[in-house]
Amino acid sequence: MKIRVLGSAAGGGFPQWNCGCFNCAGVRSGSIAATPRTQESLAVSRDGRAWFLINASPEIRQQIETFPALHPRSSRDTPIAGIVVTNGDLDHCLGLLCLREWQRFSVYATARVRDGFARNVFARTLSRFDGQVTWRALEPGRETKLLLASGEPSGLDVLALPVPGKAPLHLADMGASDEDNVALRIRDAESGVAVAYLSGVAGPSDGVAQIVRDADAVFFDGTFWSSDELIRLGASDKRAEDMAHWPVGGSGGSLAWLGAVRARHRVYIHINNTNPMLRDDSDERALVERAGVAVAFDGMELSL
Ligand code: MLT
Ligand code: MN
Ligand code: ZN
Repeated sequence: MKIRVLGSAAGGGFPQWNCGCFNCAGVRSGSIAATPRTQESLAVSRDGRAWFLINASPEIRQQIETFPALHPRSSRDTPIAGIVVTNGDLDHCLGLLCLREWQRFSVYATARVRDGFARNVFARTLSRFDGQVTWRALEPGRETKLLLASGEPSGLDVLALPVPGKAPLHLADMGASDEDNVALRIRDAESGVAVAYLSGVAGPSDGVAQIVRDADAVFFDGTFWSSDELIRLGASDKRAEDMAHWPVGGSGGSLAWLGAVRARHRVYIHINNTNPMLRDDSDERALVERAGVAVAFDGMELSL
């Protein structure tokens, strides 16, 4: 299985257009040791020819252009067979609207995420002709085959499990559902190798533990280092947990848990621009690496 990180930052990216925090100002001026990052998305393939994306970021166009394996092979074509979305947040769904150029593709989502997306009038741009986008249901707990454009099985299966999270901010009035936010496991049906993907996790749960079991690679929510990161900056009155993100650092942080997960590759992704572990020479980065965990960057590749 081939994996390519198309984008590794949380919503807003790094730097974020309206942010002058230490990290964002520093990466713009070059005064810190850090690399800009686009918003979170992963590309996964069994054979290097047909690809599935996890989440569709607003920067999807640029992300496709920087990865030749996703370029068209004929005058109208895409190697992207489908897109699996983990929740209805704009940083995960806005990119779908950017793929409106008369191309057929499949989107795998829970019924809840699909219905939330369909409330938006712009969603109609993906129904310009019959069969433009095929929505395929992710039923929590039931493994689903990822299909090639031909309709044949790709050899990759996806399992979605509900994990602690929340409805997207713009749909907060819909109340909460188990299907708002899922973690994924994509597995090669033949070899059994698997990648677990949990880019939004509010805290530990049985689903979180279950999805990483037997995974060869785990991508995990690295949004905030500490609970009060945005509060101390004066950027928000919300704690990490209020935004459904389990902080990395501290005694109850995710690093203490992820460091003990027995997967060959453990990688933080969806990293907010304020997170000190974005700086290559920070104490926080050293702590992460000492625990055997990596911090994702755009263009990072794994082969399982
Ligand atoms: C999140 O990850 O919490 C969301 O992307 C926040 C947002 O939609 O602004
Ligand atoms: Mn996000
Ligand atoms: Zn910032």
